[in-house]
Amino acid sequence: MKPLAVKHIVWVKALIHIVSLLFFANLIWLVLNNKFGADPVDGITHYTGIAALNTLIVTMFVSPIARYAKQGLLVRCRRVVGLYSFFWATLHLFTYLALDLTFSFALLGSEILSRPYLAVGAVCWVILFALTVTSTAHIQRKMGAKWQKLHHYVYLALVLAPIHFYWSSKSELIEPTIYFLLAISLLAVRWKTLKRIVFRPALKRR
Ligand code: HEM
Repeated sequence: MKPLAVKHIVWVKALIHIVSLLFFANLIWLVLNNKFGADPVDGITHYTGIAALNTLIVTMFVSPIARYAKQGLLVRCRRVVGLYSFFWATLHLFTYLALDLTFSFALLGSEILSRPYLAVGAVCWVILFALTVTSTAHIQRKMGAKWQKLHHYVYLALVLAPIHFYWSSKSELIEPTIYFLLAISLLAVRWKTLKRIVFRPALKRR
């Protein structure tokens, strides 16, 4: 396959926007037509949570696919998919805050502190937030080497999201397990990078 050119990347990005907006339009259609059944809040929480997790997984697939297919320019699409992951995670958090807790931030704080699965989700959301606000080329230049260090936290988010899913499930175990295995596989293909991140600070201290 011939390497993709910049103009093709523009089309891939446009496709990512179209697909994401279609999923968002589908959510609105499901809500307006009462398609979430007896517990719509649960349905919306599920839809937005799964969308956040799926987009996070897709974000982490971009680099291995680009390397395997020798399509280096494809990594330029990673940021936009990552931003959609934050978008869905924020909508998911907003659903919980607005529809479950009627906008009580005090209750949100106490719920996060008292339920470990929510604390895990909150840490994951904070990581996605930090990665989103520092995702522009301008901030990347300003932060220098610190930017890469911060963006390595995406690996932690990748593990925390399926744990949050697993912990929140009362009966469903197969789906969270599949996501967890996917996350572990995505970390495994980055084994060399992870080894460098985990062991290099320890070597420096010696
Ligand atoms: C402060 C941040 C977060 C809060 C307060 C939160 C809250 C919740 C709640 C209340 C549930 C439903 C549990 C139940 O069914 O009883 C849930 C499930 C879920 N969350 Fe989160 N979450 C947060 C962050 C995240 C993030 C960052 C992700 C993904 C990147 C995520 C993905 C999921 C998934 C996949 C589920 C399972 C959906 C289902 O099958 O019902 N959450 N979360």
